[in-house]
Amino acid sequence: MRSTKTAEPWVGQGLGPFGVAVLKPYSRTRFATDGSAVLKVYVGIDPEGRRRRETSTVQRAALRGISVPTVLATGCGEAGSWTVFGAVHGTPCSVATRKATEGYIGHVVAVSGMLHRPTASATPGPGWAARTGSPVSTSQFLLDQFSARCRWMPWWAALREALSTIDAHPTVHLHGDLKPEHLLVDGERLHVVDWEASACGPAVLDYTDVLFHLVRDLLYEDVAPARIPVDLADRLPFCGPVLAWRLLLWLDRRRTQDIDLVTTHDIVRLTADGWFVSDARPLRDLDQPTGGITLPRMPTRRSRGVARITPVERAAAAAALGCPLWELGPCAGCDQLMHRYGRYTPMYCRGCRTALNDRR
Ligand SMILES: Nc1ncnc2c1ncn2[C@@H]1O[C@H](COP(=O)(O)OP(=O)(O)O)[C@@H](O)[C@H]1O
Ligand SMILES: [Mg+2]
Repeated sequence: MRSTKTAEPWVGQGLGPFGVAVLKPYSRTRFATDGSAVLKVYVGIDPEGRRRRETSTVQRAALRGISVPTVLATGCGEAGSWTVFGAVHGTPCSVATRKATEGYIGHVVAVSGMLHRPTASATPGPGWAARTGSPVSTSQFLLDQFSARCRWMPWWAALREALSTIDAHPTVHLHGDLKPEHLLVDGERLHVVDWEASACGPAVLDYTDVLFHLVRDLLYEDVAPARIPVDLADRLPFCGPVLAWRLLLWLDRRRTQDIDLVTTHDIVRLTADGWFVSDARPLRDLDQPTGGITLPRMPTRRSRGVARITPVERAAAAAALGCPLWELGPCAGCDQLMHRYGRYTPMYCRGCRTALNDRR
């Protein structure tokens, strides 16, 4: 029989005993029976790389003033790649209610404030440690995370083109996996755990991850799309191309059959990022009388002369027309930007209405 010492090296360091393991595709975690520590064994994709990244990043995150667990012991060998963290106290954030979601998003914004400070030496890639070799662009770093088969999928070129827009964003330190169960609230204190996906890249990566998890988890809980608190998520500056990338990465890793269902058109719509005047109506609009609850949704009209506007132009147009951003849309006749959606709004602009009314 193999000795416990070899099989469980943490025992020799006075750590444990640990309780029942929580099994996930890429990890096994066990809480110490006295609640003082958490043992994590990394399995599946690149266990040793993830162990090194997590143990190195938590130390650097602590230097930024973020409350993180202490590394009590770590190693790799017969027991695989493993780390024992000191347990932090607190209750994980939640998105079960609107109030809880509001609190969670507030905590995300607070953590981002400490994390996403411009860092001159940071270049896009996994982990926070300095990189050797020639730097890659953010879009390349993101595309490299897909399995090889994705390069041959019909949407690949559209995603690659859309992602190139984020190459100009400043590179900052990222948590890489922000979600409610990784933010533990203990009174006034906030502890942040699970740093194994830490990376350097634009801040929109972290924000978009939050939105992705929020929407996915709520849909899994059978929350109707109209009830998703899109207005709260709007506090986070997420980005359409990154959202499309995140969704596709999830499909590639966790729902391998479903990725074949994605079309180029889906990606163009997701990556549009509010740039097209002729966007489909956003979810927040669905509970209005002209929305999807009382009337069937109109089929998406293919854009004829696609008009591109920047977010600033969109904001200016909304201010000039005296309507919320999401009620802007193209005139059904001439595609001119107008107050198109919401209560009592016409489908045609004044000019087109006059022309139509004069028609005999
Ligand atoms: N140091 C810690 N103290 C208290 N709870 C922790 C600690 N580390 C992890 N947890 C809890 O255990 C869960 C799983 O740990 P995590 O590091 O996220 O592993 P995984 O890679 O399996 O997601 C976390 O979501 C968190 O709720
Ligand atoms: Mg986790």
